[in-house]
Amino acid sequence: MVDDLVRTPAAVADAERWTAHNYHPLPVVISSAEGAWVTDIDGKRYLDCLAGYSALNFGHRHPALIAAAHAQLDRLTLTSRAFVHDQFATFCRELAELCGKDLVLPMNTGAEAVETAIKVARKWGYKVKGVPHDKATIVVAEGNFHGRTTTIVSFSTDPDARADFGPYTPGFKVVPYGDLDALTAAVDETTVAVLLEPIQGEQGVIVPPEGYLPGVRALCTEQNVLFVADEIQSGLGRTGTTFACDHEGVVPDMYVLGKALGGGIVPVSAVAADKEVLGVLRPGEHGSTFGGNPLACTVATEVVGLLKTGEYQRRSAELGARLHADLGALVGHGLLAVRGRGLWAGVDIDPALMTGRTACERLAERGVLAKDTHGSTIRLAPPLVVEESELGWAVEQLAAIL
Ligand SMILES: Cc1ncc(COP(=O)(O)O)c(C=O)c1O
Repeated sequence: MVDDLVRTPAAVADAERWTAHNYHPLPVVISSAEGAWVTDIDGKRYLDCLAGYSALNFGHRHPALIAAAHAQLDRLTLTSRAFVHDQFATFCRELAELCGKDLVLPMNTGAEAVETAIKVARKWGYKVKGVPHDKATIVVAEGNFHGRTTTIVSFSTDPDARADFGPYTPGFKVVPYGDLDALTAAVDETTVAVLLEPIQGEQGVIVPPEGYLPGVRALCTEQNVLFVADEIQSGLGRTGTTFACDHEGVVPDMYVLGKALGGGIVPVSAVAADKEVLGVLRPGEHGSTFGGNPLACTVATEVVGLLKTGEYQRRSAELGARLHADLGALVGHGLLAVRGRGLWAGVDIDPALMTGRTACERLAERGVLAKDTHGSTIRLAPPLVVEESELGWAVEQLAAIL
């Protein structure tokens, strides 16, 4: 790092001293933020081109979201679901309408929402589809990332995420992502769901071939299988549409949402589906103390309100076109490939030049925060409030380190 970071090294060492090393963060210690920018404890500013893995789609401390949170903090923060509170129905209705679904089940983290979807799909399989008890299978894709619980890592294909955490939960089949024939071959009478990311984020922003998602939709409809779209990272404006599935006019049976739903303030996740699907749950079968709490509902209702304006989807589409054009010009000049949609890009650095980690360290020195994945890929996902000039500047920094 550059010499003027005085307090940072000690703060990084202190953090390492007191926590399990389940992350390998860049040596940047953030203390405040606004919009697309963060400031570290030494007063250095960075353009946040990770945006909390898309949890900060609306930027840091969006004024409308902060105002809603403040107002709610002064009234009511937690009730548990043992009682109804006055923000609950509004949030569920607003999100259900945004998704075009009948019902919403709120949780907290993304992994919990994925677990919810898995449980709902299995129960739907037994109660509605008529799959023999304990025989339900769910088909997932190679390279998936759906979270960190023991069941979810059971069907991960990433050795770092999976190894040494067995015994694994049975009931999952893994097929290559983007391969409709392989998926078709994997579906049988025990299949209750196909669980997919419409764009694989952690894997490096992998966009499936055109026609894949509509093909999955058609297959699921034909075989009476639920299409569960994990839009935790791809959804809520990130790709230039409300959901990444929208690009191909595909409507899944269940949306799994998280990250940006909490407005960068509180963890809020949810599953949205029609009555025939989410209606299978009965009292006592699933829940969460914090899921759907008043603070979460208020902030998330405001998030849905921001999305209903269409402004953020439009910004992502327009600025994303600029981002991809600028990045595309670097292919052959230090970049091997660029993928993605909207303000979301997976950028493959020529490994002969440097690793993704080194690239991110060098970008941080120049005031741009990004995160590497799988060796030489870096992900760019700036908040959707970023300005065009700031984006141009960020790509200039990337060009400079290459
Ligand atoms: C597609 C997808 N699903 C699920 C998750 C898990 O979300 P959380 O970390 O909130 O549990 C993530 C997180 O990166 C994700 O990208």
